[in-house]
Amino acid sequence: MSKLKQSSPESPARPFQYTSTNGPLSCGAHSLVDLAGQHQTPLYVYSADQIAERLGLFQQALANRPHLVCYAVKANSALAILKLLADHGAGFDIVSGGELARVQAAAPEAIGRVVFSGAGKSAEEIDQALEAGILAFNVESEAELALLASRAARRKRKARFSLRVNPDVFAETHPYISTGLREHKFGIDIRQARRIYQEAAGNRWLSAHGVSVHIGSQIRSAEPFGAAVTRVARLVRELAKDGIRLKTVDAGGGLGIDYHLELTEGFDAQAKIAEYAAAVEAALAGLDVTLLLEPGRFLVAQAGALLARVLYVKRNGKKTFVVTDAAMNDLIRPALYQAFHQIVPVIPRPGKAVPVDIVGPVCETGDFFAHDRKFQPVQPGDLIAILDAGAYGMAQSSNYNTRPRPAEVLVSGSSARLIRRRETVADLLAPEIV
Ligand code: LLP
Repeated sequence: MSKLKQSSPESPARPFQYTSTNGPLSCGAHSLVDLAGQHQTPLYVYSADQIAERLGLFQQALANRPHLVCYAVKANSALAILKLLADHGAGFDIVSGGELARVQAAAPEAIGRVVFSGAGKSAEEIDQALEAGILAFNVESEAELALLASRAARRKRKARFSLRVNPDVFAETHPYISTGLREHKFGIDIRQARRIYQEAAGNRWLSAHGVSVHIGSQIRSAEPFGAAVTRVARLVRELAKDGIRLKTVDAGGGLGIDYHLELTEGFDAQAKIAEYAAAVEAALAGLDVTLLLEPGRFLVAQAGALLARVLYVKRNGKKTFVVTDAAMNDLIRPALYQAFHQIVPVIPRPGKAVPVDIVGPVCETGDFFAHDRKFQPVQPGDLIAILDAGAYGMAQSSNYNTRPRPAEVLVSGSSARLIRRRETVADLLAPEIV
């Protein structure tokens, strides 16, 4: 791994930094010790500056073409983060009526910048989105297109759609989050798309707006994106010959980050985005279309950390377990995808690093954050930070073991604002009937 320049505390390139070699780890001007004292643990902490910076990098990289960055709400759907992104010009990629309601609550002014993806939209969700006046539906099947047409006809409102095509492109990533092969449940076989657009042209309630593609998530190389968009561009040209002029190409999300990166290493997000944008742009050369992107992880992952407190340090045979107050219900990525997250002490203690398992209190062996990780000595009461947890962390949290979900804090310059209070057990019991 190449050592890049260490970012300065003012630079949002790595938002979590030690203020000195003895700590504490801080987010911008805010010590994580103070934030944990104020809001308790487990606690998600996000850097607003980094999120805004990342969005700006995408926007700059696409400056030569009309574009819209539609943040994938599923990565982190905190209302305050949606508002922040909307204020900086983002649109949104949603996959449910619930996510639509989130955009309506956080940034109603951005509804016209919303695309609606997802393989199983219900009639109610389609109605909700038609009523709201979203930009376009990313349609994933002929049956969905027929349903969209009938719901649009009922309310006498034309529906703009893009077919989400499946380009049959392989992208190296975890099998659970790879989506661009014909064998996956996503999208419409690209070989069928031309016929479906032609048929839809005869329906007065449907308006072919664009075409979309999403080949998977946590993809580290630009090449498969280029390959997918090349196939999409070919389709756009064919359709133009049929007299169907699409306005947008939506290249989906999926750009990955380096979860193994250590805190002391810089991360050149600008170069990554530039490489990605160049691959997509090369594939679109000569086409007069607006480019939509749906990044999720790349905008928010590295901006967030999950802060946890060590409850116990125990030895079973040869193994040492560090038991924290955060668990798989708060961050399920390690359990679900064997995902790696860097973990660091908030105040490092002197001493030799030894291999430990860092685990939560949930009654499952799958409840771990790290196995055999070399970690400096820790004691009960110490704080640790699980890094790069801003995407698919809180968004995939649950109440398993009747554990209230963490609070969330958004750091922006000199302010550190609670954006979601910690759940209480009473919140969890409220919907139930004895
Ligand atoms: N657009 C569509 C249609 C998607 O399905 C997704 C993610 C995105 C955009 C955003 O992808 P991103 O830029 O975040 O890679 N929970 C998994 C990731 C699941 C991704 C699902 N779809 C994880 O924690 O790694």
